[in-house]
Amino acid sequence: MSQASLSLIVEVKARRQEARDIVTFELADPHGRPLPAFGAGAHIDVRVKDGLVRQYSLCNHPEERDRYQIGVLRDPGSRGGSEAMHDEIQEGDLLQISAPKNHFPLEPAERILLLAGGIGITPLLCMAERLAHTDTDFSLDYCTRSPERTAFRERIDASTFGDRVRFHFDDGEASQKLDLEALLGNPDPEARVYVCGPTGFIEAVMATAKAHGWPADRLHSEYFAGAVTTSDDDDSFEVKLASSGASYTVPADKTVHQVLAENGVEIMVSCEQGVCGTCLTGVLEGEPDHRDLYLEDHEHAANDQFTPCCSRAKSKTLVLDL
Ligand code: FES
Repeated sequence: MSQASLSLIVEVKARRQEARDIVTFELADPHGRPLPAFGAGAHIDVRVKDGLVRQYSLCNHPEERDRYQIGVLRDPGSRGGSEAMHDEIQEGDLLQISAPKNHFPLEPAERILLLAGGIGITPLLCMAERLAHTDTDFSLDYCTRSPERTAFRERIDASTFGDRVRFHFDDGEASQKLDLEALLGNPDPEARVYVCGPTGFIEAVMATAKAHGWPADRLHSEYFAGAVTTSDDDDSFEVKLASSGASYTVPADKTVHQVLAENGVEIMVSCEQGVCGTCLTGVLEGEPDHRDLYLEDHEHAANDQFTPCCSRAKSKTLVLDL
């Protein structure tokens, strides 16, 4: 990730154990100046430690300018980002962050259905604040493994929109589980669906919605867990730069981004998991093996761009628009 985009320094004003394995951090300008404004669904890049930049959705009220709040799940499978946040970042620490970016913006609709899985609540909570503020009709279905793993319960209960939120616990009674068929069974042309959480949760919501005829442009999702980026079957392939004609071999155990970086070709990356889209690069020839969760199906099918942080090639060579 380019250091230039990590243009803000913030101080950790507070950290709080929000639920089991979930900590929230409140970040503010060290001198009390207002922070750049953000819209519901926005995230920031956080430099967690040397060489490690991770993205976290902002979960406070989007009208606030004096702080950013993020929630971080301890995830041993996350390659160190969440564990460093949990174990190393303390109140009073200074953090380098980017200005807010928004790949998951709220679009106008008569009615909004928010569906959160686990830590996927963070951008949706920000949306709920915004929708309540603008008096938009909405509901929030919030699924977690158990009450003790449910972040922001007190905040939701104390909010003006607590009556629009339904909690669903994996370890609870069958009667309180989320019934996607009932929720999405009758597509509402005036509504939009926003879903965030683990891959399986999002796929279940999307599959149910599509099966019942919800138009794709009314369904909005943001993934939290990265795609699987390597497999035992991976092979080497060539990448060629259209501008110079230079060609490099990408071995099975390296990404395109790594190989290009080793050869002095800089591509901006952030999540390195195919989630954020920062590294999107044009493809002029060849067929990518898309491993990201960022592009839509029709964008994958076009094969004219790919994410070199994780995606590979089905053809022997990819000619890149670099
Ligand atoms: Fe995030 Fe490649 S760096 S998708």
